Amino acid sequence: MRFKIKCPYCNEELNIEENIWGLWNIDGSKHTCPKCHARLYRHYSFTYFIYYTVLLLAVLFGLYFISLFLELPFYLWLCISIIFALGGYLLLNRYFNRSFYDLGIIGFRYKDIETNCTQGGDKMPSFIYNIPTKVYFGKDQLAGLPRELAVFGKRVLLCYGKGSIKRNGLYERITMLLANNGFEYRELSDIDPNPKVDSVREGALIAEEFKADVVLAVGGGSVIDCAKFVAAATYYEGDAWDLSLGKVKVEKALPIVTILTLAATGSEMNATGVISNPATFEKLGAAYEVLYPKVSFLDPTLTYSVSPFQTACGSADIFFHVLEVYFNPSESMFLLDSFMEGIMKTVLKYAKIAFNKGDDYEARANLMWASSWAINGLIKEYQTHKWSAHSMEHPLSAYYDIAHGLGLAIIVPKWLRYALNDDNIDRYVKFGVNVFNIDPALDKKMIALKAIECLEEFLYVDLKLPASLKECDIDDTYFVDMAYRACKGDKINGFITLNIDDVIEIYKMCL
Ligand code: NZQ
Ligand code: ZN
Repeated sequence: MRFKIKCPYCNEELNIEENIWGLWNIDGSKHTCPKCHARLYRHYSFTYFIYYTVLLLAVLFGLYFISLFLELPFYLWLCISIIFALGGYLLLNRYFNRSFYDLGIIGFRYKDIETNCTQGGDKMPSFIYNIPTKVYFGKDQLAGLPRELAVFGKRVLLCYGKGSIKRNGLYERITMLLANNGFEYRELSDIDPNPKVDSVREGALIAEEFKADVVLAVGGGSVIDCAKFVAAATYYEGDAWDLSLGKVKVEKALPIVTILTLAATGSEMNATGVISNPATFEKLGAAYEVLYPKVSFLDPTLTYSVSPFQTACGSADIFFHVLEVYFNPSESMFLLDSFMEGIMKTVLKYAKIAFNKGDDYEARANLMWASSWAINGLIKEYQTHKWSAHSMEHPLSAYYDIAHGLGLAIIVPKWLRYALNDDNIDRYVKFGVNVFNIDPALDKKMIALKAIECLEEFLYVDLKLPASLKECDIDDTYFVDMAYRACKGDKINGFITLNIDDVIEIYKMCL
């Protein structure tokens, strides 16, 4: 049955639909005000109970006297009374709820005000927190590099990418520091964005032959990921690709020290590496405890030279590392939700600034620290579901070698649209209200869609990233293969469960 009441906190008119049996249940019926998100529990006052009982008794007595007057048998009187009692109850609720509410006889009791997602409770999974990476953050922190490297030894394997560190002068600074402090070093250079397993194989050979004491990775996620796998492969007898396949129990690796030059993947503070194998079109991520960097140097000025495009891709990646955890099907923890919203808002604010003004220290610093905390385990520990967008993106950059953040930027809004349903809409509402400041008074569906539109505006207008695969010259040739890989031949048990057909559908939406 439907009836109208006013929210006692913001006076919003609520149109409530309730099962009549729920009305027996004193605290059982729970509603959320769409405007202020107060949780309201229906309750009956004692007065209501007295009114109803007195009324019922009066009717029953009336019926009793009528039955005496008509000389009806007792059982007939009983049947008529029961029918009247039930009918009276239904009529009262059907027509008088509103007036009872207005009289203050029946009302709604406040529980708590918040957005309408369930939070924590005893269903929240347990977790182990362990982030063992020591971080030097800020300008001029590189001075600490010799001291930290010396803890592990004097023989350094220096890993870097395609030359950005030579162009911006960082290579010279580091090699001077090494030479002036009595270190010997060998180089693994030319590491690709989306690093390939061949670089890992080459690095492991150099490290072994040189008897390296420590691996020093200078670059973005690609260089750091590659360096991690080099560190592990050095002690592994078989082929380095086995490490990505997860075939091996990796218990020993060279110590890894990183100097981050691009805020994006969070590899500087986590145990993951993502490596591609062009021979099989595979791009696989694997994490091993021993691959946590021992020390990471995070100097925001080292990211001044990152291009606007890479800044956009990196920022999108940071944002989505959080979003993939935020959009989870299980219980979440208020504290962690708030952290996540804070990180996403930080990216929204500072990505635009860094995109337009590469040497803005405040923007670069915020993005850099956000990148580390988005995926170092802090927010992720309690999450049990699989990441959907990353699962779909990795085959995309494996087949087409596009920037990881760009692939995500194309996929995520389409995936969010595809996944939206009545059961999970509250997550979207929370996201829209708390991250994009959308008016909570709007209809839930409208908030959810508006949130996705705000995200698209951020990605495609503010950061000028391409919105579709077509703009990246990608067609549907490999969609079936890619979907099969994304689902590992089965399905993705993520925010919603996606099977191979679902993933193909989402790829098609990206065209
Ligand atoms: O190769 P160089 O010359 O260094 O140039 C790079 C590269 O062209 C350039 N760049 C980096 N720092 C720069 C700079 N250019 C100018 N100035 C600087 N200071 O930027 C380009 C992209 O670099 P890359 O390292 O590939 O980017 P990113 O950090 O986004 O790393 C992407 C890789 O990380 C993986 C991705 O799949 C992808 O392979 N991921 C790793 C994760 C992890 N380890 O936890 C999680 C992520 O979700 C992601 O999958
Ligand atoms: Zn990522």
